[in-house]
Amino acid sequence: MIFRQFIDPETSTLTYLLADESTREAVLIDSVLEQFDRDRTLLRELDLTLRYTLETHVHADHITAADLFRREQGSRVAVSAAAGVKAADIEFEDGDVVRFGSATLEVCSTPGHTGGCVTYLCREQGMAFTGDALLIRGCGRTDFQQGDAAALFDSVRNKIFSLPDETLLFPGHDYKGRMVTTVGEEKRFNPRLGLDKSEADFVAIVDRLDLAYPKRIDVAVPANLECGLLAAPIPAPTSQPSPSTASSVASVMEAQGRQDAEIWMGMGI
Ligand SMILES: [Fe+2]
Repeated sequence: MIFRQFIDPETSTLTYLLADESTREAVLIDSVLEQFDRDRTLLRELDLTLRYTLETHVHADHITAADLFRREQGSRVAVSAAAGVKAADIEFEDGDVVRFGSATLEVCSTPGHTGGCVTYLCREQGMAFTGDALLIRGCGRTDFQQGDAAALFDSVRNKIFSLPDETLLFPGHDYKGRMVTTVGEEKRFNPRLGLDKSEADFVAIVDRLDLAYPKRIDVAVPANLECGLLAAPIPAPTSQPSPSTASSVASVMEAQGRQDAEIWMGMGI
């Protein structure tokens, strides 16, 4: 198995590339529009064929590159049916299996951060990709997108924590430079969802969070419900991570008369 982990510094989004070494078939989990060129370059350098872009959920803080990859490379966009992404090619149900070469990922429904969150399990390698359901020493917020604290508690405690303690957990974000944790570690040290916490404790903790309105949600969610911004042009390959993708998103938004284009570019609030 070929495995790479990437970070988008702007949003602290972690993206994962997995590929079968012999057939060179690959999947990307939670791609980021602005990092399209980075990931495309590595796919080409490693001689990989991208079969699927997989989403752990409909993101509120960044736009997926899924549609760009679909249009340029012929990959298929896959997301849980519960996420409501009608432009997806594949809508997963709990227990579905993604195959690329001899490698497999199992789809495990883990709602609570959003109604359509899934965790992708790679049992052969003892790895799981939790999206924002379980972060390192934390979890995703539960106050938007059909968020439900009791459902998240159930997903983490009864699904993710049912995996072997040594299972490596790869989250959708980390804001402190951490890259990986384990089931055993989170059971002991997660301050919200560790085994010393009850469901009532957890609900009380998230009720007290008093978080700010998500800065990009009004742009990112509608775009991600279309697998990324469908009208965005495919950028020309470069050897550097391309700021032009973000610019092109803003120019498409401006052409559509959207006042939030400058917010997307970081010039607004
Ligand atoms: Fe999220």
